Formats: sequence, C-alpha cells, structure tokens
Amino acid sequence: MKTIIEPFKIKSVEPIYFNTKEERIAILDKACYNPFLIHSDDVLIDLLTDSGTSAMSSDQWAGIMKGDESYAGSPSFFRFEKVVQDITGMPVVIPTHQGRAAEKILFSILGGKGKYFISNTLFDTTRANIEFSGAEGIDCLCEEGKHPSIPAPFKGNMDIALLEKTIAQKGAVNIPLVIITITNNSGGGQPVSMQNIKEVKKVCQKNKIPLFIDACRFAENAYFIKLREEGYCDKPVKAIAQEIFSHADGCTMSAKKDAFANIGGFLAMHDNVLAIKCRNLLVITEGFPTYGGLAGRDLEAIAIGLNEVMEEHYLQYRIRSIEYLTNKLIDAKVPVMQPAGGHAVYLDAKEFLSHIPADQYPGQALVGALYIEGGIRGVEIGSLMFGKYDEYKKLVPAPMELVRLAIPRRVYTQSHIDYVAEVIIEVFNNRHAIKGLTITEEAPLLRHFTAKLKPVLKSPEESLPKNKQVLTYK
Ligand code: F0G
Repeated sequence: MKTIIEPFKIKSVEPIYFNTKEERIAILDKACYNPFLIHSDDVLIDLLTDSGTSAMSSDQWAGIMKGDESYAGSPSFFRFEKVVQDITGMPVVIPTHQGRAAEKILFSILGGKGKYFISNTLFDTTRANIEFSGAEGIDCLCEEGKHPSIPAPFKGNMDIALLEKTIAQKGAVNIPLVIITITNNSGGGQPVSMQNIKEVKKVCQKNKIPLFIDACRFAENAYFIKLREEGYCDKPVKAIAQEIFSHADGCTMSAKKDAFANIGGFLAMHDNVLAIKCRNLLVITEGFPTYGGLAGRDLEAIAIGLNEVMEEHYLQYRIRSIEYLTNKLIDAKVPVMQPAGGHAVYLDAKEFLSHIPADQYPGQALVGALYIEGGIRGVEIGSLMFGKYDEYKKLVPAPMELVRLAIPRRVYTQSHIDYVAEVIIEVFNNRHAIKGLTITEEAPLLRHFTAKLKPVLKSPEESLPKNKQVLTYK
C-alpha cells in the first residue's frame, strides 16, 4: 500500500515561532509549570488540544461569508439544523457556543443533589457541570480501558455488568441519563463499539433511563467501527454515524472537534418537553434558539464541517497520522496508550517517569520536560486533572497518569509529527533527570487550568537507583 497522504493542499499558512531551550526554561518557570499559562506564540508545536484548533476548508471560509446574521430565523440556522437532523435523526437542535454550554443547560435541568450520571468516562467539563449542579458523575469503563499498554479494539466501551450494578445501587429513578463519550477522550481517545452502544441502550431501556451521547468525536468513532467491527467495513461512515445516533435519545456536541469549527456546539434530542426547558435556559444564558451564542457565520462553518469530517479519505489520513506517531514511539519503547486513539497520542507518565510518585504529578512533570526539550505543548490527564483529596487532605490519585498530545485537525504535516517523535524519544532517554512537582495554588473545580506548581526540590539522584546516570536539562 502507498503512503497515505494529507488529503488537502495548503492555501494559507501561519508562522510558528522558534525559541531556545534556555528561553523555554524561563518561560515554563514564569508559567508556574502549567502549560495553560504559556503564551501560544512561545509554543513551537501546540498539541494542547484538538479543540477549536482545526484548519477550516476553503468551503468553510466561503460559508463564513455566506453567514446570515439575523437575530431570529437566519437561513444559516436552518442549514445547520438540517445537517444535524440528518446525521443524528433528532428533531430538536439547539445551538450553543460550545460543548460545555450544552452540558451546562442539560445538567442544570436534569442534575441536582441526589442524582447520578453514569458514563464510560465523563470528560472534565462534563463532570464539572454535573458536580456544579450538585449531582455526581460515575464512570463505568470496561476493564481493558484502564490498562494503557494492553491493546484492544474498543477500549472506550462501558462495562455493562458494572453499569447494571450501579443502576441497581443508586436506583434508576435517581439516574436522569446515561452518557457515552465517543471517542472516550479522557480514556485515551479510544472508541466505543456499536455492539456496546446497543447493549447500553438495552440496559437503559429496561430501566427507563434515556441514553445521551457526548458526540464531540463521533466521526472518528464511526471510522473505528468501520475498521474494527464486524459487519461495518462496507458501510459508509455517515451511515455508521446515523446508526450510532439512532440508539440515543439525545446528544451534546462540541463542534470544535469533529466539525472543524473554531467555536460552536449543540444539544440535540427527541424529547419535546425537555427541549422546551432547555430552550428556556438557552435564551437566558446563550441566546435566541436560532443562534444560541453563535454568529450565523459559525453555524455555516459547522454545517459544512460536519459533512466534511465524514469523508473517508480525511478519516483514513486522520486515524493513520495518530497511529504513525504512536507506532514510532512504540518502536522506541516509549510507554504509550495502545492502540492509537482517534485524536491524540497518550503517553503513560506513570511508566515513563516511574521514579515520580503520583503526588508529585508525573504527567505534569512530563508536560514540562516536552516543552523544555522541544517547545511542544501537551496536557496532563492524570492526578492534576482528576485527583481528589481525602478528609486528611491527602491526594487520592487518578487511575491513570497520562499526557495527551492532541493533534489539531488538518494543521500539522508529517515532518512536524516526525519532529514530535524525536523530541519525545530524547526526553524518554533522559527521563531520570526529570523532577516531580508540587502545587502552590489551585482552584476548587477544574484546577488543572489555573494551578500553579513548582519543582520538588529533592535532587533526582535521591530518587534513583545508585548506578543510573543523571542527565540535566541545562
Ligand atoms: N466532551 C468531550 C469529550 C470533550 O473532549 C470536550 C472538550 C467537551 C465535552 C467540552 O466541549 O470545549 O466545546 O466546551 N474537550 C476539549 C479537549 C477542551 O481539549 O479535549 P467544549
């Protein structure tokens, strides 16, 4: 088979800025070891997120010019609504300014004290919106999804027996929704199988609990089903996506991912009664139901992007480019989540920096080292993001310590990715010199966005077996 090429030509480029290792050491220190506090023009390759960072197509830019900015009844809304209805089969379509705005509306209405929302893995904003309403989020991820180094085709699946047990324990009446995140972002961008979605639906139906889909990366998930699940290899991705949504009662979506938009999202559903409540809240928090916090031009870009994302040459390139980087790292023995996910490469920081304990945030330490070595910005998905404190203020670590390198859609070329692999391998070879971190400042919710940290002063030699050589970054 020939090389799978980028299925686009580049019409407009933007510069990236180079700096030195010495400059990056100072920049990271000034940013208190938190990549969210680094200015993006101090970053060489920005893999912080695949959200809102896509390159839009020439058709999307043309759509931007076509956007109708009427307050009510804009034709751009009706084009957007038609595309979402076509893919999801859901008659109610409510635009929001991004995914978490859809979540905020949904969980403000359905959440509250004593309620539980069950998922494969809730994304951090989803969990925060649930907890902010007073409710609790519970993850029921399948066992294979919890082990980064064990490959399996659908590591985003829900554990059906655990789902049933949790429903029985908490009581179906206290569970307003079950939500499946496709692909499972916090669990390594791993897909969920159609079979699993059907089984979850069956359990939901038996217990009269609606099933929602967090659909941010629905097209990547649909493509994995095409590649890996029996009976789907000849089915068009759009038909697979439609089948996924046919099992759901509703969905939330961030159009900043699988719609190639720089901003936007929506809520879609079948239930007209719930829709009235959502729209009432929408008007207070987002805007009139035909724009919901977006400009008409954004609605056009999303409508066009939603169809482009299901093109198979694009998805083949997209999934292959993530796999390409993952395989280079596997060949160099770097511990990574396997198999490759849909939108990101996940380094297993627990293994990578096995000399750094969870309460010294190995993921965050690795993020810092990648930035210093090569100007690459990633994000920790581990105990800084998901850790909690027990009653003695002792850290209860997250189950996994991952570093996510999310690849923006249609933005970087193969040589950028080759460079990323070289930097990671260099850091891996010098890993014993990396120090842990301690938190100096943190917020009560979503602390990873703003937390300030500093290196633990213990020298790396003290945490090493005697015969290991220590290399420093300076
Ligand atoms: N659900 C999932 C699975 C997500 O990955 C995100 C965002 C959201 C909901 C919220 O959407 O950002 O439009 O409000 N994920 C981004 C990321 C931020 O970096 O993975 P949003």
